[in-house]
Amino acid sequence: MSGADGRSETTTETGGNSVPVVTVDGPSGAGKGTLSVALAERLCWHFLDSGALYRLTAWQALEAGLALDDTPAVAGAARELDVRFELDGQGGYRSMIGDQQVDKLIRDERVAAAASKVAALQPVRDALLQRQRDFRAPPGLVADGRDMGTVVFVDAPCKIFITANAEERARRRYEQLKAQGAGVTLRALLDDIQARDQRDRERSSAPLRPAADAHVLDTTEMSIDEVVAAALAVVQERLLL
Ligand code: DC
Repeated sequence: MSGADGRSETTTETGGNSVPVVTVDGPSGAGKGTLSVALAERLCWHFLDSGALYRLTAWQALEAGLALDDTPAVAGAARELDVRFELDGQGGYRSMIGDQQVDKLIRDERVAAAASKVAALQPVRDALLQRQRDFRAPPGLVADGRDMGTVVFVDAPCKIFITANAEERARRRYEQLKAQGAGVTLRALLDDIQARDQRDRERSSAPLRPAADAHVLDTTEMSIDEVVAAALAVVQERLLL
């Protein structure tokens, strides 16, 4: 089960909330999604895909024909978002707005590029901040993103930063898209990942970086099972499970 339900009693500013959070941050294609869902399933905790909030904001802005640098209008779209995430128990999840599943709408490269642009706008980040904290509900939350450990859940008892080199991340994405029948080239994906990394790392608002107290995991040469096992060991150690 996952979502922002049950939020009223436990939602506070980050300080003083005793509900445990595991943050999973890192660049695109490092395997955050796969790892976060696996952890949420194992722990039976809620799950937040914060990137989906930025993608949905971008998608809604594009649909409404807004200029992506029209900051007040894009922040307005961010404020209206009401999404929840449902784990399917098989390593996947559905992003739901009401009873509409919205994953397909936000997973293409056009929306990814737009999301990276709107994510650089501080008023958009401000609009999404409390929305993300609202997902913190008992028994716990696994939060996937770029600034989960550095900004949104600074007091999280367990922070993981996963990374892999850009070539390996492009290769993983290529295999994924190829399996879905998409006609993409490895070169184009690598260029895309490098451009997005640069924007995410160099923006002045919440740039991508590991929190000082994060456990850094380089997954370049690791299988998914190895990554999950290593992360679970960190969770057990930090949360004394
Ligand atoms: O993880 P993703 O590719 O779905 O994220 C989409 C974009 O949103 C990406 O450019 C990074 C940005 N993002 C962010 O700035 N902060 C987050 N917590 C999550 C994603």
